[in-house]
Amino acid sequence: MINSTNRSLVNLLMTLVAGFVVISFTTACSKNQDQPNVELIQDMMISPAIKPQEGDVDSPNNSGMRVPPEGTQPVGFIPYKYANDIAGAAQNQNPLGSDSSEAVMKVGLKYYSTQCAVCHGEKGEGSAAANSAVGTKMALQPPSLVSDKMRAWTDGQIYHVITVGQGMMGPYASHIPQKYRWQVVNYIRSLQKDNK
Ligand code: HEC
Repeated sequence: MINSTNRSLVNLLMTLVAGFVVISFTTACSKNQDQPNVELIQDMMISPAIKPQEGDVDSPNNSGMRVPPEGTQPVGFIPYKYANDIAGAAQNQNPLGSDSSEAVMKVGLKYYSTQCAVCHGEKGEGSAAANSAVGTKMALQPPSLVSDKMRAWTDGQIYHVITVGQGMMGPYASHIPQKYRWQVVNYIRSLQKDNK
């Protein structure tokens, strides 16, 4: 028979032993930071990692780069409805309105100067006027974005050309994330204002 004093002694002892085991286990795990921790249950801990461009024999096309299943789209992505509807594109409303705050201009400048200026010029004056690096080598000179024609265009029309391209100009949808394209439109509007 274990009386109650003995029982609480046994409990205390058990707690101490358990505590010691936990402490020594965690210190053993964290002793060498360069080594992986002790892995108790190893299910799926070590899985083969396939690098971009690498082959993968288990893939239907032997490529590590998988095509997303048909009909799926990334979270937060809104498909562009007006790819083949220029009239609709012209009516597409700019969610930023005419916001020309510093935050909007900063993003607009970033993408304009890296994606557009080589052809249309830093100030949007067109490649001939800007003597721009790439534009002047093109058979069709990239036009001015501060022209009367562009001033008369709606924001949606400019957004449309950025997204799907126009004639000799390719689309920039893969270069400028969807959520930053309107900032580029507003940046072009600010170039137009500066060019009065
Ligand atoms: C490689 C050179 C090049 C780059 C880079 C480029 N464009 Fe263009 N862009 C052109 C050419 C060339 C045209 C005329 C295309 C045509 O009508 O056939 C054009 C036309 C346009 C038009 C219509 C102008 C008009 O008068 O019809 C807009 C708007 C425009 N570009 C905006 C942009 C924006 C914004 C960017 C950056 C995201 C950009 N472009 C990047 C070459 C370029």
